[in-house]
Amino acid sequence: MKIILISPDRALMESMRQILQMENAKREFVLFDSVDAAAQSIGQESPDLVILNGHSLGIDQLAVLERFSHQNTNTSFIVLCENATPEFLIGAMRIGVKDVLSLPLVPKSLSTAVALIENKLNKTSTLQHIGKVITFIAGKGGSGATFLACNLGYILASSFGKSVALLDLNLQFGDAALFVSDKVPANTLTDVASNISRLDASLLASSMVQILPNFGVLAAPEDAEHAVAIKPDNIDALLKLAKTHYDYVILDIGRTLNATSVKALDHTDHIFLVIQETLPFIRDSKRLIHALLSLGYAKEKIQLVLNRYEKGGDIQLRDVESTLNMKVFETIPNSYEAVSASVNQGVPIMKIAKHDPVTKALLNIADKLTVDPKVKKDGWLTHLLHHA
Ligand SMILES: Nc1ncnc2c1ncn2[C@@H]1O[C@H](COP(=O)(O)OP(=O)(O)O)[C@@H](O)[C@H]1O
Ligand SMILES: [Mg+2]
Repeated sequence: MKIILISPDRALMESMRQILQMENAKREFVLFDSVDAAAQSIGQESPDLVILNGHSLGIDQLAVLERFSHQNTNTSFIVLCENATPEFLIGAMRIGVKDVLSLPLVPKSLSTAVALIENKLNKTSTLQHIGKVITFIAGKGGSGATFLACNLGYILASSFGKSVALLDLNLQFGDAALFVSDKVPANTLTDVASNISRLDASLLASSMVQILPNFGVLAAPEDAEHAVAIKPDNIDALLKLAKTHYDYVILDIGRTLNATSVKALDHTDHIFLVIQETLPFIRDSKRLIHALLSLGYAKEKIQLVLNRYEKGGDIQLRDVESTLNMKVFETIPNSYEAVSASVNQGVPIMKIAKHDPVTKALLNIADKLTVDPKVKKDGWLTHLLHHA
């Protein structure tokens, strides 16, 4: 844990450092003798805890702390002061100061206060949440991969309450943002890649087109010239970050397998391969499946999505399955009118055609994805058998 100590009283600062260091040698300290001196570097240091000796700190100085705490939402604050007035205490609590300790310092209360914060920090970092990465890949151009990726993202956010980031990794001709929004994206993957060294959750969020509070889309580079700047390492860093901040990270990689899309596939939990039931699609998809398997991706990772499916066509579902040697995960019906309206207006199908069969199929996929395997195992049937 990184701790910033701020105290005009050097001796007090040194004794605090000694007490805290003795208890846990892994604690790292940065020392400042005034709030002003600390103010300039607190942002870069990103401390877990700031301990401020404000022995004459009054209500006015709380404004300084308030600014600190707004800029550093992951930082906890402990304030030491003599004779804190009730107004001061209330003000301190309101801006999120975790503890106000009275001076002269009682070492035990300092240790307890710091240990509490440290425990909580350790818990949240071990419970660090890792989202699922779902990559849409088109068996052939025009399969519906982008349409399905965007609309599944919207449904996971709007109907399942998940936080979702859709990243358009089509380095050429990426168009995902236009499927769910009529806004021209202010930033794209190129901006994120060129700022990769300072990429954090807030930079990522602000680079996306926000469709819902919990659903953002990062647009693809505007042209091939900008796409050249994107390196596989950038994708690696971007996905590592995105996974820890969103429940679902949905990627649209089109149908190219190259160094960048392979990096994306390395982070992927489910590969959604979108196909249609015509011979050219099946032929191309067979090659693509072969390529994915020879790259070492497990067959179980590949989920076959049969789009624009019409019962009774020339090629039956079972023909597709036997030719590709793989079960179809979900079929999506053909629904020309509703899909065209959604695509042409840039409005998610869930919003304009809630009861369309395509919407229902997407809800079905979202349902399958979000079901907790543990809950399923101990579902109503098991329960019944156990208690019979
Ligand atoms: N289930 C569907 N029913 C009707 N039309 C569809 C369906 N899915 C996709 N489409 C149409 O296919 C077009 C191509 O889809 P798109 O997502 O751009 O394909 P890809 O990304 O695989 O190249 C879309 O513009 C849409 O109009
Ligand atoms: Mg596409």
